[in-house]
Formats: sequence, structure tokens, C-alpha cells
Amino acid sequence: MNKLSIITVLSAAAVIVSCSDVKRTPGTVYMPDMAYSRAYETYADHSNLAEKGIHYNNMPVAGTISREEEMPFHVTKDEGTDTSHYFASKQVKSPVDSLSVTDAKEAERLYLINCGICHGTKLNGNGPLYNDGKGPYPVAPKNLVADPVVSVMPEGQMFYSVTYGKNKMGSYASQLSRKQRWMVIRYIKNQQMELKAKAAAPAADGTATTKK
Ligand code: HEC
Repeated sequence: MNKLSIITVLSAAAVIVSCSDVKRTPGTVYMPDMAYSRAYETYADHSNLAEKGIHYNNMPVAGTISREEEMPFHVTKDEGTDTSHYFASKQVKSPVDSLSVTDAKEAERLYLINCGICHGTKLNGNGPLYNDGKGPYPVAPKNLVADPVVSVMPEGQMFYSVTYGKNKMGSYASQLSRKQRWMVIRYIKNQQMELKAKAAAPAADGTATTKK
């Protein structure tokens, strides 16, 4: 009897406590962006979003390549085993003949981000991804300054390969705008010329004995 009343009282207390309408504070939300939806309704009022702590500007992320910037290259991609377009691209002149100091810095930055990983910071085809054949990348990227073909490759043809990709090298059309691609190619050309000038310089003053 006694036992039964204790059980009754305890369970009644449990029911009352759990059903009480005491307001509890939810405490700190660990990731508010996850807890409260930032969902964006098309026709909703978008004014004063910043005041509400919502950072939404309706713009693509900085550096996004717009779709019309990606491809238009009047030399279209070769189909199958045809290489005529690849060779025709040799005739295409680069719109970027020289780089200002700022553009040269930017072109180098773009090269180091997009190409250096394979072609190397020295453009010698030995970037960290290849790493003398020990790296995870299975094929040797071209040595952009010493390869007999690439070191004299017309800019238009380089643009073709960078735009459409070449064998194991993918296309950079969606990562670099057309102007950026031409800038990177100008940067490579400048490096090639610098290296040629350096190689020629010692020979000119008669001190060079061996030629690489
Ligand atoms: C993932 C590694 C990788 C990256 C990153 C890469 N390349 Fe290459 N690249 C290669 C390989 C491999 C080849 C050799 C392709 C072949 O001829 O089979 C090559 C070849 C080339 C060639 C010679 C193309 C030809 O027609 O023979 C040029 C020019 C070139 N790359 C420029 C670039 C530029 C510019 C970038 C950056 C925008 C870049 N590459 C990024 C791997 C890479």
C-alpha cells in the first residue's frame, strides 16, 4: 500500500514536471546557418538582408568565368583523330603582345596556381605533382622552356591546347578567362625568351665553353 502510493506520487510528479510549460532558453546555437535556413525566396523582399545578418548579393563568386567567356575560339576542337584544327591554330595571333608590370605579376600568379603544379615553378615540366616521376601524376608534363617543340610553339597553338586540353592535360577554359589564358601564354613566352637570352649571353662575351 505504502509502496503503491510512493510510486503513484513519483509518477504523478514526473508527469507534472515533464508537462509543465516552463520556458527553456535554447542556449547557444553552434552553427546558426545550419539551424536557421538562409533559403532565398525568389519574390521575397530582399532589402536590408545585411541588417538581418544575411550576406547575399545575388552575384557569382569573384573570378567565375561566364559561359560565353569559356569557349568562343573560332578554331573549333578537332574531332576524333583529325589534327587539322590543332595545326590551323598556329596562325592565330595573340591579342596580348606584352604585359605591363602588374599584368606580368598577375600572369605569373595565374601560372603558379593553375600550371605550376605540373609544369613546375621553373617551367621545366617537373612540378610537385610529377616530382621526377615519383609524384602521383603518371605522365611527364611538357618542359615549357626546353622542349624543342613547345619552346618554339606559336601562341595560338598553345592557346588551343590550354583551351581544349591535350591528352592527359585537361582544358583550362572554365578556370581561366580567354584574356587570362593569353596572359599566361605571354608569361610562358617571356620566360622562354629570357632563358634563350641568358643562354646566348655568355656565348656572346666568349666565356661560355659548353652549351646546353
Ligand atoms: C595536371 C597536370 C597539368 C597541368 C595542371 C597543366 N598541364 Fe600543361 N601539360 C601537361 C601534360 C601531361 C602535357 C603533355 C601533353 C601531351 O602532349 O601529351 C602538357 C602539355 C602542355 C603544353 C604543350 C601542348 C602541346 O600542344 O603540345 C602546353 C603549352 C601546356 N601544357 C601549357 C599549360 C598551361 C598554360 C597550363 C596552366 C593553365 C598547364 N599546361 C597546366 C600537364 C599539365
